[in-house]
Amino acid sequence: MKAGPGGPLRGRVTAPGDKSISHRALLLGGMAEGRTTVEGLLEGADVMATAAAMRAFGAQVARGADGLWTVDGRGELRQPDGVIDCGNSGTALRLLMGAAAGYLIQTEFDGDASLRGRPVDRVIAPLSAMGATVRGDGLPVTVIGAFLRGLAYEPPVASAQVKSAVLLAGLHAASPTTVLERRPTRDHTERMLPAFGADLSVEQTEIGRAVHLRPGARLRGTSVRVPGDPSSAAFPLAAALITPGSEVTVAGVLLNPLRCGLFQTLREMGAELEIAVREDAGEPVGDVTARFSRLRGVVVPPERAPSMIDEYPILSVLAAFAEGTTVMRGVEDLRRKETDRITAVATGLRACGVEVDEEMDGLIVHGRGRPPRGGAAVETHGDHRLAMGFAVLGLGAEAAVTVDRAEMVATSFPGFVAMMGGLGADVAPA
Ligand code: S3P
Repeated sequence: MKAGPGGPLRGRVTAPGDKSISHRALLLGGMAEGRTTVEGLLEGADVMATAAAMRAFGAQVARGADGLWTVDGRGELRQPDGVIDCGNSGTALRLLMGAAAGYLIQTEFDGDASLRGRPVDRVIAPLSAMGATVRGDGLPVTVIGAFLRGLAYEPPVASAQVKSAVLLAGLHAASPTTVLERRPTRDHTERMLPAFGADLSVEQTEIGRAVHLRPGARLRGTSVRVPGDPSSAAFPLAAALITPGSEVTVAGVLLNPLRCGLFQTLREMGAELEIAVREDAGEPVGDVTARFSRLRGVVVPPERAPSMIDEYPILSVLAAFAEGTTVMRGVEDLRRKETDRITAVATGLRACGVEVDEEMDGLIVHGRGRPPRGGAAVETHGDHRLAMGFAVLGLGAEAAVTVDRAEMVATSFPGFVAMMGGLGADVAPA
């Protein structure tokens, strides 16, 4: 994909469905009894991996001509015939491992080369403590489900995937489960579970946020409306911020506070962002407008990281345009995403003429208050967010940027090229 500098970006677009909520809607729909309808599902490759998995576990998952998805669940997961292929998706893998652990089935999980390199020990430890047997310490991995016991668990890493895996396993345990988080992560699982009938409560304690789940409730199908993904909305909004004369509105964006750290950071950088929040189907949602802005470097508080964990690549790109230094620390887990995002972002930025310091747990980007040189071929290592992030850099740089493996944007944002083109951006297959 090649993206080059050009005129202003203008227009109003709708972000694709939120990836995290889409996974969970299909997964809970497949575990529940009866019909679940899902409006606005993200039809990206990651979510399609979860759809295929739920079919393999015995649910009927279908897309209607109107784009409405239906999931007819059997109230349990059945023994799948073959291997569950999670593709590139860490969320599919970790959540499905948790879900499968509570049934008397044996499930082998695998994924692509990127996913095979990512950690699963973070879910194996709590699932084993609950009584499941797990064979393998990386992919392929086999989960042998059991009658589980509940667990009081404090994940050693701030991870919504780990929290969700434990809660999903806890649904069928013999005793209650609690997950305690000192640094709260996205809460879509705990928001959605009660809508399916689960008995769950959230408590703010002195040391953190505790999610209590009492097992035994029968899950029943429901209707889910998926808001736009703030992590995807970030790309057209960022492009507007760095392209003179631009004004872009992304409508229907999920504005859950545990997902909005980027917007807060951008405001601190001096970004002109207009955000109108409303409540829609249990989640705060709104329209976000970004105008071309002169950005300045900031220090991003490490405790904000969970609320913007997928946005560090695009923030690093914006930091390259800002005046002054942007410091991003406390994000070592970025090394365990679809690729090592710390090294890959640093390497890509340097190739584009940006000065960057790489640290074990973060990045420091030295912006000069003007467009970076660009003009490079950037390696994405098959990471969708790197592909989109560096394409955005190319739109504002002095010279066009090319990214490899651009097909990977379909992981989370299949319409990226068309949407950006519609806003006036010069981006196309290389
Ligand atoms: C996700 C949680 C985050 C995030 C991922 C989606 C989720 O991962 O990076 O894109 O849907 O629960 P971690 O839980 O590993 O931080």
